[in-house]
Order: sequence, then C-alpha cells, then structure tokens
Amino acid sequence: MSKFAANLFKCWHPVAYSYEVPADEPHGTKLLDEALVIWRTADGTPHAMRDLCIHRGTALSLGWLKDDCIVCPYHAWQYDTAGTCIKIPQKADIRIPPKAKVDTYHCQERFGLIWVALEEPIYPLPAVPELESDQWRVVNTGPFDWQSDASRQTENFTDFGHFPWVHPGLLGDPDRPIVPDYSVEVEGNILHYSVVRPEAPNTDDFPVFANEEVLKPERRSRYELHLPYTIVLRLGWGGEAGMVYFYVGQPIEEKKCRGYCIIGRNYDLDQPDSVLQDFEDTIFGQDQRVVESQRPEQVPFDLADELHLKFDAVAINYRRTMQALELDYYHYLDVVD
Ligand code: FES
Ligand SMILES: [Fe+2]
Repeated sequence: MSKFAANLFKCWHPVAYSYEVPADEPHGTKLLDEALVIWRTADGTPHAMRDLCIHRGTALSLGWLKDDCIVCPYHAWQYDTAGTCIKIPQKADIRIPPKAKVDTYHCQERFGLIWVALEEPIYPLPAVPELESDQWRVVNTGPFDWQSDASRQTENFTDFGHFPWVHPGLLGDPDRPIVPDYSVEVEGNILHYSVVRPEAPNTDDFPVFANEEVLKPERRSRYELHLPYTIVLRLGWGGEAGMVYFYVGQPIEEKKCRGYCIIGRNYDLDQPDSVLQDFEDTIFGQDQRVVESQRPEQVPFDLADELHLKFDAVAINYRRTMQALELDYYHYLDVVD
C-alpha cells in the first residue's frame, strides 16, 4: 500500500541533476518510495528502472554498464533498456526465462535535470525558455535534502509572510512585514499569481539581485506553481534585467524530499556560480530548520486543518487544487486493493 496519491505516480518528478548521472556509472535514487536506478546508454540517453535485480533482489545501481545494458553486481545478469535480461552468464545455453525482466519507467532529461514518471504522465513539463537560451546564464543550486514532505518544501518556497523573519536582510525586512495584496488564478494544474513588494537591498556577501540602479527598489515576482511540486518564478525590477527561479521537489519518501533550484539570469553573466550557490545554501538552510519542525510533515490538504488568513491565498489554493486533482494524500485509500 502506498501512502502517496495514485496521481503522483502519473507526474514527472526530478530524480537527479544531469551531472549526478555520469556516462559510465549507474546512479541510485528513490522516488515515491520506489528505489530507482538511472543510467545512460552510449548516446547519453538516460534510462530509469526499478533498482532491483529479479534474480536475488540486488540493487542494480551497484552494478556497471556494458554494451548499452546495465549489469547486476552479484551474478552479472545483463539487462537492456527495455528491462529485458539478455545475458545470464551462469547458463550454458542462451534461453532466458521471460520472467527475467526489470520494470522500466518514463525518463527524460530537460533543464539539466533527469525526470522520471512511474506511470504515463498526465501533465507536461513547464516551458522555461530562459533556461534554454544562450542569453541567460544558468546556475544549479543545492540540491537540498530535507526531512519533510515535498509539499512542505514547495509551500515554503512560495510563502511570502516568512521572508522578513526567516531571511532578514536577504529576502525581507522585519520593518516591512506586510504582504501585498495579490490574487491567485487557477488554470488546470497551474496556479498563477504575482506580487510587487519592496526589495531587501543586496548584501555585500551576496550581490545577486539586479536592483542597484533603482532608487526605491521594488521587486516584481511572477509565479507559476505547477502542481504538485514545481515553481517557476520570474523576477523583474522594471527594466531589462530578469531572473528566473525554477524550483522543483523530488518526493523521495513520505517524510523525505530533495529540492532542486535552478536559477537563470540575463545580467551579471560573469559572476561565478558559487555566489548564487552559497546564497541559496544560506536561504535554504534558514528555511530547513523551520520546515523540518512542522507537523504533520506533509501539508495537511484539508482546509479545515491549520489556520489560513487572506495573505495565505497561495497555500489555500495549493491545498484546494491538490485535493481537486487528487494529488494529495487522502486518496491513498483508493489505491488499496
Ligand atoms: S542478484 Fe542480480 S544477477 Fe544475481
Ligand atoms: Fe524561505
């Protein structure tokens, strides 16, 4: 019995940064409680399979790659990209039992991430042309491994009220705690909303925002929250300079997630990646201790739980829409047979 809603298995989820899956070695990870092995054929194409050899249950991620196949580390059975065992070295004849197979999953590479859908996906990946443009510099930050559910990490990324308190001087100012009015539009599995709010000035440590030339710095933030766990955030300061944050959470286990945060900018193209990476390490670190303390560890999707005020409109719509699209957890009973 899975604790995860059946529809979560029908979504694309990130399972690794591309750079974490080398050309010549399998990579083990976990998605929705399922152990996965990700590996590449010689042409670079990534493949995802259940990380379990049918012979004796060994993790294939401990094995090696050979002739566009993955080889089990225990007795060297060899599986092709369809998950079919094509070689059993211990057998003198070449007849292989049809049961000698490993489950394979949908897998693609996009935005510098490897994505997996455990079942036929129902939503496409978001379009983020900035991350695929030569004019923008793209920096991978994190990944951020938290002891919380991906829903809590996602809500935290888009929670406005905490900026002055959890990130004073970096993302907010305790003297200006008011959350500006905004409204949320729901379109299928996407929430759209924007806010304009005073910018906290850049610090000397982290000069990451493009607001120096503006007398009264204001930041415009346009959000797309793609359910279940993806946020595309576009920042602007009224001029040409733009920044895009692409956050996406990997639901690993019920109380374990991994956030990937990819940042694109069309300014400061020569700034070393480490400036943004260190900045996000600081920000996510400030958030982590707070979010890991939240109980329950998953967002309670029923609106009767927790207390919602008007400025929490994103969370209200997130919870309501997760429920409506049956991406929340209360549907796990549906998948019990
Ligand atoms: S356990 Fe994999 S080949 Fe024996
Ligand atoms: Fe935060």
